Amino acid sequence: MSDILLELKGLTKIFTDDAGTAEVLRSVDLKVPEKEFLCILGPSGCGKTTLLRCIAGFETFTGSVLIDGQPRTQPGTDRIMVFQDFNQLFPWKTVEKNIQYPLRLSGIKDKAELKRRSDEAIAKVQLTGWEHYYPYQLSGGMKQRVAIAKALALKPRIILMDEPFAALDAMTRRDLQKEMLRILGEEESTVIFITHNIQEAIFLGTRILVLQPGGEIVYDEPNTLPKPVTPASDEYGRLWGTLNAALYSRSQG
Ligand SMILES: Nc1ncnc2c1ncn2[C@@H]1O[C@H](COP(=O)(O)OP(=O)(O)OP(=O)(O)O)[C@@H](O)[C@H]1O
Ligand SMILES: [Mg+2]
Repeated sequence: MSDILLELKGLTKIFTDDAGTAEVLRSVDLKVPEKEFLCILGPSGCGKTTLLRCIAGFETFTGSVLIDGQPRTQPGTDRIMVFQDFNQLFPWKTVEKNIQYPLRLSGIKDKAELKRRSDEAIAKVQLTGWEHYYPYQLSGGMKQRVAIAKALALKPRIILMDEPFAALDAMTRRDLQKEMLRILGEEESTVIFITHNIQEAIFLGTRILVLQPGGEIVYDEPNTLPKPVTPASDEYGRLWGTLNAALYSRSQG
């Protein structure tokens, strides 16, 4: 049995603004073992992004976020977030410099070491040769690869991905899903991956969780379908049906 890397205990998030208060996450408990690829599905507005932002240390909250049993309330290089937005790169920095920037912030000063780390990450996402290009010269899919390379280069304990492929066309999305499986087969990282797409969760996840408003966990099971997952099986159809029912369980009214 693997060790627990991330633990949420009674994680509660209340937003207060002029319109009033909203309890977006209500006492969420969750344990994520090392090397798990946890996919989280949930309807729009149920609190998925908020959950990731609390784990990343971008939001205040009550309850606890523990990494290796130690509380985290601020951002740190042990957790990194990859967003849906294609514009998460600095437009004035090249691919290489975008990837090296967080490495510099983490304290790496040696130029050869920075180059080695960025080259390695660029190769993992198959962008060798594009080091000196700027974001505006890249397609949406390539920009997302750079964002993933940036995360990989830091070698965080946990990568938090908020619908990173949602804005891509279906073919590019499939390609990047396959690459994620390949890359993560070689990596030590643990991933929490948010998606609206049931196929994507089944294809990528080693465990799948469905959230409903308030951060209520209505489904949480290991994904036992052998990888690479092919849709042409009874097991796939059954799992898809179960997840679809859990996802839409609160939408009839
Ligand atoms: N900064 C904020 N201030 C006030 N309310 C917020 C803030 N951020 C999020 N919320 C509210 O929290 C709820 C959850 O938002 P969140 O972005 O976490 O949902 P989500 O599950 O990621 O949705 P989607 O699938 O559409 O991305 C929403 O009702 C949203 O309006
Ligand atoms: Mg969101």
